[in-house]
Amino acid sequence: MTQPDVHSAPVCMTRRTFAIISHPDAGKTTLTEKLLLFGGAIREAGAVKGKKARRHATSDWMEIEKQRGISVTSTVLQFDYLGCRVNILDTPGHEDFSEDTYRTLAAADSAVMLIDAAKGVEPQTIKLFEVCRMRGIPIFTFINKLDRQGKDPLELLEEIERVLGIRSCPMNWPIGMGPDFQGIYHRHEGRFERFTSRTDDMVSIAMPDLDDPAVATILGESLHQRLQEDVLLLDVAGDPFDPDLVALGKLTPVYFGSAIANFGVESFLRSFLELAPPPGPRETDQGVVRPEDERFSGFVFKIQANMNPAHRDRVAFVRICSGRFERGMSVQHVRTGKRIALSQPQQFFGQERETVDEAYAGDIIGIFDPGNFRIGDTLCERGSFRFPPLPLFSPEHFARVSVPNALKYKQFHKGVAQLSEEGAIQVFRQANRTEDMILGAVGQLQFEVFQHRMRVEYGVDVELLRLPYAYARWVETELPIDELQFDRYASLVVKDQDDRAVMLFQTEFAINWMLERNAGLTLHTTSYGLS
Ligand code: G4P
Repeated sequence: MTQPDVHSAPVCMTRRTFAIISHPDAGKTTLTEKLLLFGGAIREAGAVKGKKARRHATSDWMEIEKQRGISVTSTVLQFDYLGCRVNILDTPGHEDFSEDTYRTLAAADSAVMLIDAAKGVEPQTIKLFEVCRMRGIPIFTFINKLDRQGKDPLELLEEIERVLGIRSCPMNWPIGMGPDFQGIYHRHEGRFERFTSRTDDMVSIAMPDLDDPAVATILGESLHQRLQEDVLLLDVAGDPFDPDLVALGKLTPVYFGSAIANFGVESFLRSFLELAPPPGPRETDQGVVRPEDERFSGFVFKIQANMNPAHRDRVAFVRICSGRFERGMSVQHVRTGKRIALSQPQQFFGQERETVDEAYAGDIIGIFDPGNFRIGDTLCERGSFRFPPLPLFSPEHFARVSVPNALKYKQFHKGVAQLSEEGAIQVFRQANRTEDMILGAVGQLQFEVFQHRMRVEYGVDVELLRLPYAYARWVETELPIDELQFDRYASLVVKDQDDRAVMLFQTEFAINWMLERNAGLTLHTTSYGLS
């Protein structure tokens, strides 16, 4: 297996920056923890946990605070392994914060899709997968919990292809499952890895020829026969491994294992580091930026407030896209046209925060933010190019926000502006009622966080009046919006925070009704690619 040559390649080529996408409970925390253990970033299992509280998150504020605590430490986890610097981008597991995950994927060069073998492809996975597809990044699949009885592996592959529309290529194949789980067969290496829950007990047996009767002695007659049949079927009818299709996100390499038993995780990690891409070129409004370019550039993909509740600080997370970052360097903040010194840059090793002296394309740095940054902002050493704006996604909940105490208007506007810059909430306005704001959230919890933070951080009590809309659609049309036909009872014309035309709808029926009556109209589920 070839690992990157760290001595001759540019440093950025050693970076592997990825996000794990999964439905809650598939085992993301467990897998992340095992990966960190390999990288030596944590010493014992359980360090990344605190999971029970998170999973059963209610609208109780304490829970939200706890969630935030977790998301802080796990925004980016970094470790070195086999000559690579691995950056795992993580996000809170709660569904309500999925928009955060969407933005994180913009900073990733690839994704690991984690699937529970018993549950198959679940709703949250589908949503996140769609975002990966939009970005065209390679997706690697880890099918987890093989130590428990799950769906038939062939059925799981079929489900991935049918539901997600991506071809799959198993890199290893499970032998038995649940109580009969014997281990995995590494197809391209002709090697059997025997299941054991003790990593120091790892047994690897060469099996170059599956027809060799010795294999039956090791696996038993029936499992041997099943393995022969399955592998033959995969060889004849399955997709061959094709790195070009993987790079385009059209074929997903699939690995089976058990995160909790730490089984199949290390072989997955090795294979992943070999096949996953280092940082690649990125489009800007003035041409392409390459990771090996000398000059530093990057963009803000996440803003985290209250990193330290005692200080009310905000940290802007910057994905470096080119060049070398050096502590204290001054950069162009393209949106405002100002030059700023990047103060107190930090990186996150496992759970530790450390001041960072240098970083390269693919790395994530956290910059102390006194209120300068917005999600999507470009920073560059020279020039004034911009990376594409991060798309907004359709919220599913809407509410009109008002402030009963007129004396608090100033703080109210400041708070709304800052929270929308952070991406904590989306703000829409109606053309004829510009003072009125409609908030959009992916989940109900986001409204509660908004209300709480307005009260605690800006001293403003806000009232929210829930609106019956459930969909936002970004409008693309040649005609002025007032000339379009739409159902005025079931939809509303608004503008988003960047002044793009958006329509809110109560039902899918109302969306289709409008599409049918207006030729040449396109309604987008995100602001992706719209200016
Ligand atoms: P998440 O971050 O994706 O939400 O999932 P998490 O890792 O917390 O795992 C969810 C549950 O699945 C946990 O069990 C965890 O122990 C279990 N799990 C993870 N990987 C495996 C695996 O490979 N095999 C089996 N059998 N279980 C696995 P829990 O009982 O809900 O929580 P806990 O008490 O273990 O924290």
